[in-house]
Amino acid sequence: MAGMEIARTIAATRAAVATARRAGRTIGCVPTMGALHAGHLSLVEAARRDGTFVVVTIFVNPTQFGPHEDYARYPRDEAGDLRQCERAGANLVFLPSVEEMYPPGTVTTVHVARLTATLCGPCRPGHFDGVATVVTKLLNIVQPDRAYFGRKDYQQLAVIRQMVRDLNTPVEIIGCPTVREPDGLAMSSRNAYLTPDERQRALALSRALIAAREAIVGGERDPAAVEATMRAVVEAARPTGIDYVSVVDPVTLQPIERIAGPVLAALAVWFGRTRLIDNVVVDPIGDGP
Ligand code: PAF
Repeated sequence: MAGMEIARTIAATRAAVATARRAGRTIGCVPTMGALHAGHLSLVEAARRDGTFVVVTIFVNPTQFGPHEDYARYPRDEAGDLRQCERAGANLVFLPSVEEMYPPGTVTTVHVARLTATLCGPCRPGHFDGVATVVTKLLNIVQPDRAYFGRKDYQQLAVIRQMVRDLNTPVEIIGCPTVREPDGLAMSSRNAYLTPDERQRALALSRALIAAREAIVGGERDPAAVEATMRAVVEAARPTGIDYVSVVDPVTLQPIERIAGPVLAALAVWFGRTRLIDNVVVDPIGDGP
């Protein structure tokens, strides 16, 4: 079996993908910002299980970070990421520079309305435009049959699904389960920022989601009451800030008046200088996580 290829240019990526296609392969794409962890590797694994030629993209996309966000200090570990990709069985890694992705004179962006109006949207102005734009570009560059994204970024996944539907992008979007540490903390590259004390307090996110599920499965039908339960769990861990603690419609991401079917419980909480997100879909009739 051929070793893993590394491409730094769009042209080299297209050439490698074209060769795989000529050999009869379907193409799977796993877009990432690097600092790879078990969550990312589960996406590579899903793409492999589907039998695709697996293209991992690693690009810390500047346009999805706000001016006061963590672009400069976002963890970068190219050598470690490449080792992990190889071990996980990726076929091609696309590692473009900022200039390759955004040459001078670039003026086009992709904006997905409505789904970006709640949850992380208002807290991170411009973030989802940056995500939608770079994912559009990556899908145009790789032209995969399937692209894999984690459900930990639930709103991102919803935005990307809407975007490919609206733009008729010929790709199947696959959402994969959130991977958690044994103690429940959702895997995130940003977990690396946490001090040991913050890391411990950050367990409040997954605990709040468990409390939300217990309340809903136990019969609570008032979203505000569930949000209050979640907020109490989070506040007990002395967060530095709470961006939102919300129970919303899992399709539209809009607030709901009563819980009458599956809902999305989601939250964004700060510990120190680190913003963490997590979510769970809860069915009031109580089937599974
Ligand atoms: O989820 C991420 O890592 C990023 O938002 C993505 C989808 C790779 C776009 O930069």
